[in-house]
Amino acid sequence: SQNIYILAIESSCDDTAAAVLQNDTLLSNIVATQEVHKKYGGVVPELASRAHQQNIVPVIHQAIAEANIDKKDLSAIAFTKGPGLMGSLLVGTSFAKSLAMGLDIPLIEVNHMQAHILAHFIDEENFDKPEFPFLALTISGGHTQIVKVTGHFEMEVIGQTIDDAVGEAFDKSAKILGLPYPGGPLIDKYAKLGNSKAFKFTKPKVGGLDFSFSGLKTAVLYFIQKEVKENPEFIKENLEDICASIQYTIVGILIDKLKKAVAQTGITQIAIGGGVSANSGIREALKAGENKFGWKTYVPKFEYTTDNAAMIGIVGYYKYLNKDFSDFSVTAQARYSL
Ligand code: KG4
Ligand code: ZN
Repeated sequence: SQNIYILAIESSCDDTAAAVLQNDTLLSNIVATQEVHKKYGGVVPELASRAHQQNIVPVIHQAIAEANIDKKDLSAIAFTKGPGLMGSLLVGTSFAKSLAMGLDIPLIEVNHMQAHILAHFIDEENFDKPEFPFLALTISGGHTQIVKVTGHFEMEVIGQTIDDAVGEAFDKSAKILGLPYPGGPLIDKYAKLGNSKAFKFTKPKVGGLDFSFSGLKTAVLYFIQKEVKENPEFIKENLEDICASIQYTIVGILIDKLKKAVAQTGITQIAIGGGVSANSGIREALKAGENKFGWKTYVPKFEYTTDNAAMIGIVGYYKYLNKDFSDFSVTAQARYSL
């Protein structure tokens, strides 16, 4: 049968990304990360939209060039409709529409959260694709969800955060410790050298499979303020132990809920996604769960965990097979549930 070539565009937050897929195989995957937010300690929406506007043409040019195909061979344009920052989404959405119109090919809207999950289906040597049904744990700076996945497009959110995302818990704790944004990877780095039982932070009490992380951030803040008052050098002297203890608490919260989700659904296959799946603590805990609880866990290739367009492309491919195309009146949607 004929090959399907999808050009995918992702612009929901602070990464401008484009990818080209040939069927379920990646030909190119370009991400322009916006450095402008670093000095503000978080993403500034207005600046993100502007940077997308600057980056989108070069990023798409590069994706097509590296895929080594002709624009005329493209079968469809897939883009992130939401959820995300409205100003950011509008750039990708408008660009995708115009390009699809110019090339006279179908337009395919993609849900970013669905894409984080279907990223596991990009064909990769040495990476197994999860079998249905499986549980997906999507953890990033913007999202924290447990999703029951029974088919490519059959997904049900069975748990999610009621306040901060898990990546925010890492980043905000890091900020309290005086670490630069985004602090998640730094907490991970220092945690590797520390004692995770050195300090104890209470876990939130949230019913069912939902998460809450805002209490942890406050607990870390009060703890640090109290200790620093007694010893101004407290953070410096204990950074590794503090990071290890925070990470241990966060990973514990995630694993507790996964255990609950497995008990509730009887599903033991677990696939993770989102930027926080780079965390070494969560990776170790999942691996341990294979022996301890009989789980089978899936961690995608690193570049498919953080925001990227390859994951948008794989959704585009499956939607193309279903002839699930979008009307050109489609609009971006900041809040867009699965
Ligand atoms: O998926 P992502 O790149 O962007 C979105 O938020 O959608 O995720 C970024 C988040 C940030 O909060 C960052 O601190 C966190 O993922 N992160 C980590 C690690 N690597 C990235 N958190 C903990 N440990 C890591 N190794
Ligand atoms: Zn994301």
